[in-house]
Amino acid sequence: MAETVAHVVGARPNFMKAAPVIQALERRHVPQVVIHTGQHYDEQMSDVFFRELGLPEPDLNLGVGSGSHAVQTAAIMVELERAFARLDPTLIVVYGDVNSTLAAAVVASKLGRPTAHVEAGLRSFDRTMPEEINRVVTDVLADLLFTTSPEAETNLAREGIDPSRVHFVGNPMIDSLVANLDRFDVAAARARHGLIGPYGVATLHRPANVDDPAMARRIVGAVRGVAELVPLVIPLHPRGRAMLEAAGLGDDPRIHVVDPLGYVDFLSLVRGAALVVTDSGGIQEETTVLGVPCLTLRPNTERPITISHGTNRLVEPHEVVAAARAVLDGSQPMPAGAPPLWDGAAGERIASIVERWLAAPAAVG
Ligand code: UD1
Repeated sequence: MAETVAHVVGARPNFMKAAPVIQALERRHVPQVVIHTGQHYDEQMSDVFFRELGLPEPDLNLGVGSGSHAVQTAAIMVELERAFARLDPTLIVVYGDVNSTLAAAVVASKLGRPTAHVEAGLRSFDRTMPEEINRVVTDVLADLLFTTSPEAETNLAREGIDPSRVHFVGNPMIDSLVANLDRFDVAAARARHGLIGPYGVATLHRPANVDDPAMARRIVGAVRGVAELVPLVIPLHPRGRAMLEAAGLGDDPRIHVVDPLGYVDFLSLVRGAALVVTDSGGIQEETTVLGVPCLTLRPNTERPITISHGTNRLVEPHEVVAAARAVLDGSQPMPAGAPPLWDGAAGERIASIVERWLAAPAAVG
């Protein structure tokens, strides 16, 4: 059988990174299979992204669902061990920093199967974030590491990772954004959410912000302060929804809490926003390319290039209202241009390296 590439995806932020890579490999007629772990399973957290991004139906859905970190990661590992034995992939590609990423990298390595990590080398240097643990472990195990920004190479070198395994390819999440830009319709988003005049968008789902009642109250207080300046639409991740609503998020008529949005609806809304307040990783990158000011409610970011080259700024809850005011009155300087290689061609670069690696692994690193 021809050499097969297996892509493992599971959670919402994986899908927009995987689509350009899968499509570029498809154009090169490389045999591939897509395994969905089922970490995310709601229509609006998963299926809508497959449809809108033109992803193929998964060849296999492991259906693991939610659980504690150990329960979820272990369930994915058990199922993947069986799947890899049956499908016999030559290369396993994992994306980002979610539990599905970590689980796949560990299983693949223990079976002696080569692994490629897309979005390698990002570091928040904060091991209280589950994603940071997933990144560090995945990178140390990966055979091919595809990076989105120059500082990722520095981070990997500091951890002793052989630079011949590391390839700076740009940002496949931005490939998806560039490919779909024409579909991001601000007027449609305004009509759908009944918005007249300037508006902001907020998203909140980090455990550090939404799992603890005291922190949830601080965050809700900060967001309500921003809503006094500009009405906010908040598509709310299911995680933490109850906690944030208990802290009073839904009680403000200037805050429109809605269910999670699909890819096109969400980025249509963001494209027209005067500002975004978020604790997401990917949204820091998407706002950078769309030129929309982003206030990130976190003490650190694994994506510092969105600050040095983009529209992002880290803010504490008590700083967010002043920062939003500065954005809205135009006194926050806006940087020019996108980070290097965030140009819509990262998937092609990855596919080209994968193709060469399949032909001669030792020659690629
Ligand atoms: C995961 C990622 C996080 C990413 C986020 C994007 C890890 C460790 N975290 O966090 O990095 O930013 O995805 O969405 O992998 N739930 C649903 N429906 C779903 C999925 C989840 O209701 O389709 C609810 C469940 O209550 C679940 C909770 O959300 O327990 C958390 O889901 P989980 O996959 O554990 O982590 P996320 O918070 O989504």
